[in-house]
Amino acid sequence: MIHSGRHFLQIPGPTNVPDRVLAAMARPVLDHRGPEFAELAREVLDGLRPIFQTQGPVVLYPASGTGAWEAAIVNTLSPGDRVLLFETGHFSQLWRQVAEKFGVQVDYVPGDWRRGASPEDLEERLRADGQHGIRAVLVVHNETSTGVTSRIPELRRVMNQLRHPALLLVDVISSLGSIEYRHDEWEVDVTVGGSQKGLMLPPGMSFNALSEKALAANRSARLPRAYWDWRQMLEPNRSGFFPYTPPTNMLYGLREALHMLKEEGLQNVFRRHERHGEATRAAVRAWGLENQCAEPREYSNSLTAVVMPPGHDADHLRQVILENFDMSLGAGLSKLARKVFRIGHLGSFNDLMLAGTLSGVEMGLRLAGVPFREGGVSAALDSLAATTPACHAASPVR
Ligand SMILES: Cc1ncc(COP(=O)(O)O)c(C=O)c1O
Repeated sequence: MIHSGRHFLQIPGPTNVPDRVLAAMARPVLDHRGPEFAELAREVLDGLRPIFQTQGPVVLYPASGTGAWEAAIVNTLSPGDRVLLFETGHFSQLWRQVAEKFGVQVDYVPGDWRRGASPEDLEERLRADGQHGIRAVLVVHNETSTGVTSRIPELRRVMNQLRHPALLLVDVISSLGSIEYRHDEWEVDVTVGGSQKGLMLPPGMSFNALSEKALAANRSARLPRAYWDWRQMLEPNRSGFFPYTPPTNMLYGLREALHMLKEEGLQNVFRRHERHGEATRAAVRAWGLENQCAEPREYSNSLTAVVMPPGHDADHLRQVILENFDMSLGAGLSKLARKVFRIGHLGSFNDLMLAGTLSGVEMGLRLAGVPFREGGVSAALDSLAATTPACHAASPVR
C-alpha cells in the first residue's frame, strides 16, 4: 500500500529522532584520536551525568542496551555469585539469561507481569539472607513489555533499613530521559541506559552510570571481561578518548539531544511524559479496554500496554493500523504475544502527535472489529486540556 504523509513510529523505542539530531549527525566523520573529538567526547560524557542525575562517571558503549546489561554484570560479579532479579516481564527475563550465561546464580523473584518489583518481596528475601550471600539486586525500572514502572526508592529503602550490602543494578533503558530517575539520590550502583528511547537517538549506544561502590566491586569482580571493562574505558575517557573506535557521528547526535533536553529542562520533560501517559490512560479507560499495568502507582509514563478483549488478536489490530494508517505500534512480547499492543508515548513527542496516535488506534479498533466504546480520543483531549503543555522550558543553553 502506498502512503503519503509521514509514518507514525509509536513503538516504545526506538523512538522518533528529531530533525535537529539527524542534522547534527550528518557531518563528515572526524579523527577519533584528534583534539576536536576529545572535546566532543568530554562534553557528552559530562552532559550525560545530569540525565542520570549523578555526579559519578558514565561509561558509553557502542552497543545496544543488551551490551550494557552484560557490562553491568561482568564488571561487578564473580562466577557463582548469587543475585536477586525481579520478574517484571520480557526484559527481566532476558537480563536473567545474560546473567546465567556467565554462571551467576539468579534467584528470580516471581511476578505476574502486571506489577513492578515488590518492596515486600525484597524485604522477605533480604531478611532471609542474614549471611549476606546475595551480591546484587537487579531491577528493570520501566518494564517495556508491560508498561509498569517499579518504585526504586522504596526498594532502596528496604535495602538500607536491613543494612544489606548488596549492589543495586537498575535498567532504565525505557525510562531514561522520560521518567524521574535519580542515580545518586536513590543510591543505585549501576544504571543501565540506552540511546534509542528517551534520549531521542537511533539505536546503537548504551550506558553504565557507576557509583563508588560499583567501582570498588569492580576491583574484586572476577567474571571475564574485555570489551566491557570499565577500567580500560574510564582511563582514556579522562582525556576524551576511547579504548576502541567510538561511534563518532552518534556522539554529535547525542550532543544535540542533550542540548534539547537541557533547553526543555529535565523536570519539564518528565512532566510532558506524565501528561501524555495520563491522556493515553484516559483514552484506554474510555474505550473500555484494560491496561496491562494493574497498579496505578506503577503506571508507566513512557508507554501503555493495552490488553485485547478475549478472542481478539493484538497483532491483527496492529496490522490493520499499519496498513491503513501507516502507524507502527509495539507488539506483545513472549507470553503477552498477541494479547497486548503497546503504545509508545516517549521521546520527541507532543500533544498533536499523541492525538494522531490515539486517533489511529481508535480508527483501527473500529476497522478490526474489536469491541470497544467510542470516545477514547475525546477523553484524551479532555485530559490534555486540563493542563497546558510545558512551555516554560529552562533558558536556552546556547
Ligand atoms: C527495558 C529494556 N531493557 C533492555 C532492552 C534491550 O535493549 P536492546 O534491544 O537495545 O539491546 C530493552 C529493549 O527494548 C528494554 O526496553
